[in-house]
Amino acid sequence: MSFPYQIHSFEEYLSEYKKSIDQPENFWSGIAEHFTWKKKWDKVLEWNFKEPRVRWFQGAKMNITENCLDRHLADKGDHPAIIWESNDPKEKNRILSFKELHEEVCRFVQVLKNNSVKKGDRICIYMPMVPEAAIAVLACARMGAIHSVVFGGYSAQSIADRINDAQCSLVITADGGHRGSKDILLKDTIDEALQNTGHVKKVIVLKRLGNEISMKEGRDIWWHDEIKKVDAQGIKDRTAESMDAEDILFILYTSGSTGKPKGVVHTNAGYMIFTTYSFVNVFQYQPGQVYFCTADIGWITGHSYTVYGPLCAGATTVMFEGIPSWPDAGRFWDIVDKYKVNILYTAPTAIRSLMGYGLEPLKNKDLSSLKVLGTVGEPINEEAWHWYDEHVGKHKCPIVDTWWQTETAGIMISNLAGISQGKPAFATLPLPGVRPVLVDENGHAVPGSDAAKDGVFHKGATGATVTGNLCIRFPWPSIIRTTYGDHERCRLNYFATYPDMYFTGDGAFRDAEGNYRITGRVDDVLNVSGHRIGTAEVENAINMHPDVVESAVVGYPHDIKGQGIYAFVILGSESKENNLDKSSVAATVTKIIGSIAKPDKIQFVTGLPKTRSGKIMRRILRKIAEGEMDKLGDISTLTDPAVVEEIKMGKI
Ligand code: WTA
Repeated sequence: MSFPYQIHSFEEYLSEYKKSIDQPENFWSGIAEHFTWKKKWDKVLEWNFKEPRVRWFQGAKMNITENCLDRHLADKGDHPAIIWESNDPKEKNRILSFKELHEEVCRFVQVLKNNSVKKGDRICIYMPMVPEAAIAVLACARMGAIHSVVFGGYSAQSIADRINDAQCSLVITADGGHRGSKDILLKDTIDEALQNTGHVKKVIVLKRLGNEISMKEGRDIWWHDEIKKVDAQGIKDRTAESMDAEDILFILYTSGSTGKPKGVVHTNAGYMIFTTYSFVNVFQYQPGQVYFCTADIGWITGHSYTVYGPLCAGATTVMFEGIPSWPDAGRFWDIVDKYKVNILYTAPTAIRSLMGYGLEPLKNKDLSSLKVLGTVGEPINEEAWHWYDEHVGKHKCPIVDTWWQTETAGIMISNLAGISQGKPAFATLPLPGVRPVLVDENGHAVPGSDAAKDGVFHKGATGATVTGNLCIRFPWPSIIRTTYGDHERCRLNYFATYPDMYFTGDGAFRDAEGNYRITGRVDDVLNVSGHRIGTAEVENAINMHPDVVESAVVGYPHDIKGQGIYAFVILGSESKENNLDKSSVAATVTKIIGSIAKPDKIQFVTGLPKTRSGKIMRRILRKIAEGEMDKLGDISTLTDPAVVEEIKMGKI
């Protein structure tokens, strides 16, 4: 398969960008022509950002798994689709060809149907990184069930919240999973979660650890038993369900600045086209290459760039169950060497943690197969960028720094490997079809910040850098459609701050050439090891501790995680006398949200800096957590300025 929409030169990038702005509908329908449809669209695009309402390829019928699987059967049926590497380097790997993956997916569709799953039902997937996780996701897509994957590190309470919000009727999980030296007991967590939900009728359990688990009669069934039943029946129907372009493909929960995580909704056709188009162009994927994305399937990166995008492009995708530092810090390099990986896509936090082990783990690892390196999830600092470039890429691999979000579903701003110039710590230029603009605090577009209007690139330009809040002016095919069950929340969160624009929640600046550099969130969302965590969410969890009266959470710079979580906590009078242990506060967060949200630092305080209207002045707490005590600014408007001194004294 070749890609008629692959960009081959910088000039071509510029002309494609221009075409995508001048004639967006022609541009995207031209790309869509190269996908498999059951019926083509009647209308390419209909939109307004007021409601918001965005519809791409209306009237079209298709199934994303026909594009991931069926279309490759004729010419590359025996090529590896998924190469799976166990957590344990001694366990045999598994390789599934496109033909085998297709067969497994059809089989699992029948398992779902045998268990009364219907098109449109919501299915919660809580699994380790094993091929069955991809099979489960693809089987849902194939029969039109909506998957909601929950990352294996989330707590029972977080799962219950997500199951309730989406009213999932079935859960797919495993007895457990391996992560480094630890076993994660997934089924136990599901059992606990299901005590707080009323919707789930069936739980399909994959045997992975072989540990003792409880199986609830009538509810819990084994994956392998169900497969045996299908084998006895024979696969009755391999046809993929005919989906409307705008039918929901999946829900994925992500954190915002307020309230509980929201279910970001993506639909079928636009998602397929944008993830595949961006995969092929950003990584400059060439047929036959081996591609390794280290993201877990529980995150959007795992959805778009471990499973859907690469498979639609017919790529071989490496799926890794473990972690970069186990059994030693050479694990990624062993995998690259073993499978002759050509494209490696990982997170800055992983690079920084591997930097900490020095160069020894890279010794005698053959990384000569690598052609392209990528990063995602947070701004990559220059030091990590140079280390990646020198010691992994050996100065011969372009590094693509890809900026995007759960809500965008695909890469929005990034250099294209070998086509456009990378620049350390810059995401650089927008993909065709993407129209970024920076907006000042009054909601006005900053002159010189709109790629489409002001020119996407100005070679060698010197002059001013402009800065503002990053917005996108025009819909791209995989833009968030709604937040599940609450469209108004979607509008308020993303489309109400600035009229007629999608607001990303990120701040950015743009250099005179046109390169964007994303500086981080401007709202109360933290980015810890590339994971999005809302400060309000962590505060709510801390406040569930019976001895806690109030808390305030901010981020601070962390060498490896990018941002660490700093919690200021006020205790009730009794617990102070009882000498409450900080770890019990941390344990509450682990229980309510999961270990990814556990505070790195907890400081007990007697008060918080508040304005007279009772609002916590986070700016002051942030400065204290960052150690910038002399930059607190004006504190005279606080009800009790003395509390600031006390907090400064007690800083950890
Ligand atoms: C941040 C992950 C700078 C950003 C795909 C965004 C980045 C949030 C980059 C989305 C990057 C992601 N440079 N910042 N290359 N990539 N971010 O939804 O703050 O988990 O808003 O999606 O991560 O995180 P999410």
